[in-house]
Amino acid sequence: MATRHFLTLLDLSPDELHYLIQRAITIKNRLRAQGPVYAPFTNRTLAMIFEKSSTRTRVSFETAMAHFGGHALFLSPRDTQLGRGEPIEDTARVLAEMVDIVMIRTFSHAGLETYAAASSVPVINALSDDYHPCQLLADVMTWTELRGSVRGRTAVWIGDGNNMCHSWINAARQFDFQLRVCCPEGYEPRQDILAAAGDRVTLLRDPAEAVAGADLVTTDVWASMGQEEEQAKREADFAGFQVSEALLDLAKPDVLFLHCLPAHRGEEISETLLDDPRAVVWQEAGNRLHAQKALIEFLLLGRVDH
Ligand code: CP
Ligand code: NVA
Repeated sequence: MATRHFLTLLDLSPDELHYLIQRAITIKNRLRAQGPVYAPFTNRTLAMIFEKSSTRTRVSFETAMAHFGGHALFLSPRDTQLGRGEPIEDTARVLAEMVDIVMIRTFSHAGLETYAAASSVPVINALSDDYHPCQLLADVMTWTELRGSVRGRTAVWIGDGNNMCHSWINAARQFDFQLRVCCPEGYEPRQDILAAAGDRVTLLRDPAEAVAGADLVTTDVWASMGQEEEQAKREADFAGFQVSEALLDLAKPDVLFLHCLPAHRGEEISETLLDDPRAVVWQEAGNRLHAQKALIEFLLLGRVDH
């Protein structure tokens, strides 16, 4: 059977994604009740290649493997032959001889696809310039935990049409909810990704109009990793796109606010938004651990019903 990878949310079927969300909730509840007693990955190894910085992703994957009885290896280009020009296909073949699963945070999504094509063990996208599907597993899990089924509900993306926005668009397709994308001109998500979502996703320009009656509001930094030199221009271009308590007041009374973090207070969010009870970002961050446990388990063992 062909090796399954998780490079975007489209690599799993809607049914498989729903399974993962429910499985993540089960795994979380078991951890809370019994501690890390479930250890299906004794002596299994996850290689983690990080070409960009990370707090949540590294800690959640490494802890997931520790809880599951396995081991995680942190690899950066600075300390490996990847940084000295060894072809990524060669690295993929070598690592597949030794480890059970690989996680990559990188710039080029095409490079990630090249790596996965050469890998006989599963490869997980832990963020590329184009997508951040692991974050969406945690985000949909959080939304589901707090509000039940997300099907038919309305989420709003405010800000840059970036990797997180692309994954929210894919999530709208796969989990069957409506998504309003609200961004300044020139910062739209990729047209092909938007078009593939059909009428589930609409593009708007006015944040107040976008959040009216919404079930969930989310945003991200204005300048992603690799765009640091555009910071000043983006701060000017995104003026008026800050998510504040007053903006959330225009949504449904039980609206939730998500942010993948790290957040820049005073830029894409108001100084105090994360203190508002509608912001559930700490639970969202913690759910990275549980969602990725479910993902690793699925990629290595298939569906598990205990
Ligand atoms: N949300 C997220 O991926 O955080 P890190 O960059 O800290 O991993
Ligand atoms: N869009 C952000 C997400 C960080 C988790 C970035 O790519 O830097």
